[in-house]
Amino acid sequence: MPWGFLKALPGGDLGNTLQMPDSAIPAPTTISKLSEHVGSDVTLRGWLYNKRSKGKLQFLILRDGSGIVQAVVFRPEVAEETWAAAESLTQESSCIVSGTVRADERAPGGYELTAKHVEVVQVAPEYPISPKEHGVDFLMSHRHLWLRSKRQHAIIRIRAGIVKAMRNWMDDNGFVLVDAPILTPAACEGTSTLFETDYFDTKAYLTQSGQLYAEAAAMAFGRVYTFGPTFRAEKSKTRRHLTEFWMLEPEMVFCDLDESIRIQETFVSHVVQSILQDYKADLADVERDASRLEPVKPPFPRITYDEAIEILRAEGSEIQWGADFGGTDETILAGRFDRPVFVTHYPKECKAFYMKEDPARPEVVKCADLIAPEGYGEIIGGSQREDDLDKLMQRMAEHDISRDAYEWYLDLRRYGSVPHSGFGIGLERTVAWICGLEHVRETAPFPRMLTRIYP
Ligand code: 4AD
Ligand code: MG
Repeated sequence: MPWGFLKALPGGDLGNTLQMPDSAIPAPTTISKLSEHVGSDVTLRGWLYNKRSKGKLQFLILRDGSGIVQAVVFRPEVAEETWAAAESLTQESSCIVSGTVRADERAPGGYELTAKHVEVVQVAPEYPISPKEHGVDFLMSHRHLWLRSKRQHAIIRIRAGIVKAMRNWMDDNGFVLVDAPILTPAACEGTSTLFETDYFDTKAYLTQSGQLYAEAAAMAFGRVYTFGPTFRAEKSKTRRHLTEFWMLEPEMVFCDLDESIRIQETFVSHVVQSILQDYKADLADVERDASRLEPVKPPFPRITYDEAIEILRAEGSEIQWGADFGGTDETILAGRFDRPVFVTHYPKECKAFYMKEDPARPEVVKCADLIAPEGYGEIIGGSQREDDLDKLMQRMAEHDISRDAYEWYLDLRRYGSVPHSGFGIGLERTVAWICGLEHVRETAPFPRMLTRIYP
């Protein structure tokens, strides 16, 4: 039977084994845990990252997914098969290496292995990615292998850390995770960037945002967040746009724009400070100047759209009131501050149909975009939502949106409508900013862009 191997574990028969806590399952030693084994023998299972040899010595640089360590093979002290096995290892060959752990300040990571036994699992043919410079297109086409290199490895680990910090904050602050569908009958963020697909005898679209569903869930649970992939058929080839990206979208009932902004700055600061604390080595691997992130603490500066226009015009821009900001505009605005800046109260005409009109100034909406420093652009879009049924229907008519696919959404304004607000934070742009990357393409394990769907 398929579970037979479990009998080999301590605890005897299968019934006992299944009741044992996870900690009873012996974890294999990993490079990240070598500090716990100084002076003892361990067995590491991984791949050859690099190799040097000098006379009777071979220095095997091993990686196992958790880290990188050097194993020293000294010919007089190992069996001839082990020496030969080490010699046969090429870049990215898989292998199992046993030896004694030694603390060594000069070694990267602080530890080294004196190898006793080397076993080859598979010898890899010539590896396409060598330490020499490759073009980005080549690397992107080999993304499945590129992920193994130190810098890409660090970025994806930081991405995972960012997701964890985001979700921890949400979970600890009374937000319930509610998953939004990916196949949807209607647009959330305008019809120009919709991916369309056949859905039996009708049409469906890949979701652009979980927001409308988050609003429904908020009316059921109070404070919620969605987290998942979102899609935009962006025809733009910029360093900030992907066609598939992940977004975390909180939605809060009985909450106005001001309170939403306070939640956002606390939340974003928590994420940045957690990464600074827990991912020092990875930040060093991506060569991030961490001092640029240290000031990211609340409160964040706030300017209105009108003030932003004044700043841009003073800098020589010809931007007209009513236009949305481009990447360059955002970079100029962010350049004035050492932490992210909120730009609030945009003109109605450049924002989505669901944003609440400002009663004091009906030509603008109660919204805020959060612009990251150092040219990373908008990382959050958010707003107070239009909670009045008639006003919302009027806005939909102005945007030429047919009500058919949105009756359910209008119901939220019929049955116990309340003031509510929410926002969406783009994961990849946040990762690009925290890691200090030039382009969002390196922030996703397998990025999807206008001209890239392989691998
Ligand atoms: O400003 P956006 O379009 O807002 C919304 O989708 C709202 N429904 C969110 C909400 O209120 N619940 O997108 C939000 C964020 C942007 O600030 C950006 O970080 C990211 O999503 N984003 C993209 N990231 C990568 N590639 C793209 N093409 C992106 N489009 C938006
Ligand atoms: Mg936006």
